[in-house]
Amino acid sequence: MKNIIYSAKDGYNTIAEYYDDWKWQKFWKNYEFPIIESWVENLVIGKGLDAGSGTGNNLGLFLDKGHNVTAIDISSSMLDVCKNKYKKFISTGKLNCIELDLLNLFENRKSYDWIICNRVLSNIENIDNVFRVFASIIKDNGECLISDVHPLHCYDQTNMFFENKQIVIETFKHPIKLVDNLAKMNKFKIMEFKELYYADLVKSNTLIEFDYLKDQKSPIFFYYILKKY
Ligand SMILES: C[S@@+](CC[C@H](N)C(=O)[O-])C[C@H]1O[C@@H](n2cnc3c(N)ncnc32)[C@H](O)[C@@H]1O
Repeated sequence: MKNIIYSAKDGYNTIAEYYDDWKWQKFWKNYEFPIIESWVENLVIGKGLDAGSGTGNNLGLFLDKGHNVTAIDISSSMLDVCKNKYKKFISTGKLNCIELDLLNLFENRKSYDWIICNRVLSNIENIDNVFRVFASIIKDNGECLISDVHPLHCYDQTNMFFENKQIVIETFKHPIKLVDNLAKMNKFKIMEFKELYYADLVKSNTLIEFDYLKDQKSPIFFYYILKKY
C-alpha cells in the first residue's frame, strides 16, 4: 500500500504530539542546537521572529536571555505543544505564538532585530519569496540564522514512524546556489555559511543510532548567518 504524502500543515498537525520524541530530534539537539546557542550569545537583546518554530525547541534560548519573540507556524498543533512549554512567557507578553504561513507574513516593515528559520525551507515548494518577506520585516543590520537539511543529503521525504504508523511529509530540495542567490538579491550579507558532514559532526560527539551515515559523502545539513544591509 502506498503511503499518503502529507503537506507540511497536515503532516505536522498529525505528528505534533510525537515530534519531540522523533529520533532525529536527538541529532538536531546534538549538532544543530550548539550552532544556534553560540549565535544567540552574540545577539543584542531585542525583538525576534522564529519562522516555523514548530514545538519551540529553540525558543528557550532567546526567551531566557530576555528577547521578545514572535513564533509563527503553519501547524496549529505544533504551536499548541509550543504554547504549553512556554506558558510563563506567553502570560508576560514576551512570547506571541501565531498560526501563519510565513509567506503571508505581512507586518510593519523593519520590525525585527533577528529571524531564525531552521529546517523550514525544505517544507516550502517555492522559496523565492521567503527572503523577500524576511528582507522586508527585518531591521537594517538585523541577523538571520537559516538552516536546513542539505539538498545533497540522501532523503526524498520527511519520514516519521510512530505507533506503527508512517507519516510522510512532502519535502522540497533547494540548491545551495539558489539559497545563496536569494539571500544576496534581497540584500543579506553572508556572514557565515557551513555545510556539515557527518565526519565533522562526530568529531566531538558520536550518536550511535546515526552511525549508518558514516559512509555518506555528502553534507547532512547547512546553515547561514546573514546580515541585512
Ligand atoms: C522540521 S520542523 C522544524 C521546527 C523548528 N524550527 C525546530 O527547529 O524544531 C518544520 C516546521 O516548519 C513549519 N512550516 C512548514 N512550512 C511552513 C510555512 N510555510 N510557514 C510557517 N511554518 C511552516 C512546520 O509546520 C514545522 O513545524
